[in-house]
Amino acid sequence: MISPRGRLDSFLAKTLNIPKKAVRELLKAERVTVDGKAALEMALHIGPFRQIYLDETALRAETPRYLMLHKPVGVVSATKDKEHKTVLDLIPEALRTGLHIVGRLDLNTSGLVLLSNDSRWSESMMQPGAHVPKEYRVTLANELTEDYVAAFERGFYFETENITTLPARLVILGEREARVELCEGKYHQIKRMFGRFQNPVVGLHRNRIGALRLDPELAPGQWRPLTEDEKLACLQGVESPNE
Ligand code: URA
Repeated sequence: MISPRGRLDSFLAKTLNIPKKAVRELLKAERVTVDGKAALEMALHIGPFRQIYLDETALRAETPRYLMLHKPVGVVSATKDKEHKTVLDLIPEALRTGLHIVGRLDLNTSGLVLLSNDSRWSESMMQPGAHVPKEYRVTLANELTEDYVAAFERGFYFETENITTLPARLVILGEREARVELCEGKYHQIKRMFGRFQNPVVGLHRNRIGALRLDPELAPGQWRPLTEDEKLACLQGVESPNE
């Protein structure tokens, strides 16, 4: 069932502030085009990115944008902040409108952040149950031991949320260096998990979301658009809510 907001007649009535009867007349006169074709159907589903024109006037002509950013440490994952530079400040102004952050990182975490104005795409990644895998490189204050691996796999009970974390994969890379793969994103999750061992995280960097790796050509603070394949790669590993 299409919500009234997704219907062409509701969109035109609201945007032009005219009754539905007048909308019908516009459609009959073939004055409205959707993605370049005359629209005749009142109930046409328009979705968020259809290009809608009345004669030569664009009523809606927004194009979807999908960006990857190498977030530096010290930049906040927010669209506005009084104190710190935000990830949006790193994107040219002309591209910023309507962008939201898909999966935040802490102020002192660096790495891959996705930005988009397509909420359907980001919601499919972020919905509860989607379980998109995310990979982090972690540097710790103290030495790691093999028993971390099983503890991460078992999960930790977080009292605040009343949940046990999903199995996470930890690979020891060095005395104080690990790779961690999570399929969820609870508040300060990695820091809290290592906190259980009284082992503070001193460096945290996200390398990958789904099958999409941070482009090694991007220096901290740089960004670029995603390719079509990369847009799909982020969704790799997404589980449907019924699985
Ligand atoms: N876990 C954290 O503790 N911080 C992040 O930024 C991401 C995962």
